[in-house]
Amino acid sequence: MRPMTHENRLILPSLLAADWSNIAAEVKRAEDAGAQWLHLDVMDGNFVDNISFGPQMVQTVRKLTRMYMDVHLMIHRPDHYLERFLKAGADNITIHAEARYDSSVAETLGRIRAAGRHCGLALHPDTPFEAALPYVADIDLLLVMTVVPGFGGQPFMEKETMPKLAAARDHRAAHGLKYHLEVDGGIYTHTAPIARDCGANLFVCGTSAFGPANMGEAMAGLQASVA
Ligand code: DX5
Ligand code: ZN
Repeated sequence: MRPMTHENRLILPSLLAADWSNIAAEVKRAEDAGAQWLHLDVMDGNFVDNISFGPQMVQTVRKLTRMYMDVHLMIHRPDHYLERFLKAGADNITIHAEARYDSSVAETLGRIRAAGRHCGLALHPDTPFEAALPYVADIDLLLVMTVVPGFGGQPFMEKETMPKLAAARDHRAAHGLKYHLEVDGGIYTHTAPIARDCGANLFVCGTSAFGPANMGEAMAGLQASVA
C-alpha cells in the first residue's frame, strides 16, 4: 500500500535492526506495531563496508507480509541485480546515485517503472541535491541519507543533510513534482521532527523502532513526533 501523496507521513521500520533469529516473528511485530511500509537494506560489502542480505531475504519477507516493501539497494551494479529484486517482490526499489552501473541511473529507474514498481533515488550525505536533478521528474521517492550508509545505530547528520533535504522540498514545490522525501539513519523522536520540518514524509527507523521491547509504543511515539 502506497500513501497517496507526500503529505502522508509514515514511519518505516528497517529490518536491519530486527532480530534475525526469528524473522517471521519480527515481521509480524512490525505489522502489529502498525507499520504499513517495511524498509529492507541490501548491502554488498563493496558499495558499503557491510554485508546484509540479498534477494532471497526479500522474497522470504514477501511471503510473510503484505506490507509495502521498500528495498534500499546499497550495492554497485544495481542494474545487473535488478531483475532478482523485482522477482523477489519489492514494491519500491531505491538505487544510489553514487553506485557503478553497467547501464545508467536513468535506464535502471526506467526498468523499475516498466516493471510496474515504484523507484527511488538515494543520495549519500556527501552527494549534493544537484546530482538528483536529472531524475527528479521520474522518481517516486528521493532518499536523503542522514548517515553514511552501511550501518545502523549511527548519529543523525543534521548539519550535513538537512539543507539538502530542504532544497529538495523547495525544488519539488517549485516544479510541481510529487515524489516522497525519505530520510534514513539516526531517526528518533528527537530527530524525526527536524527532518519533517525540512520536508521529509517517510522516516526509516531501525534502532528506534525494532530496538525497544514494545515496538507498538515505539512506533506510536515516532509517529506522534512527526504529526
Ligand atoms: C543504514 C541503513 C538504514 C539503517 C538505519 O545504512 O540504510 O536503513 O537500518 O538504522 P538506524 O535507524 O539504527 O540508524
Ligand atoms: Zn536504508
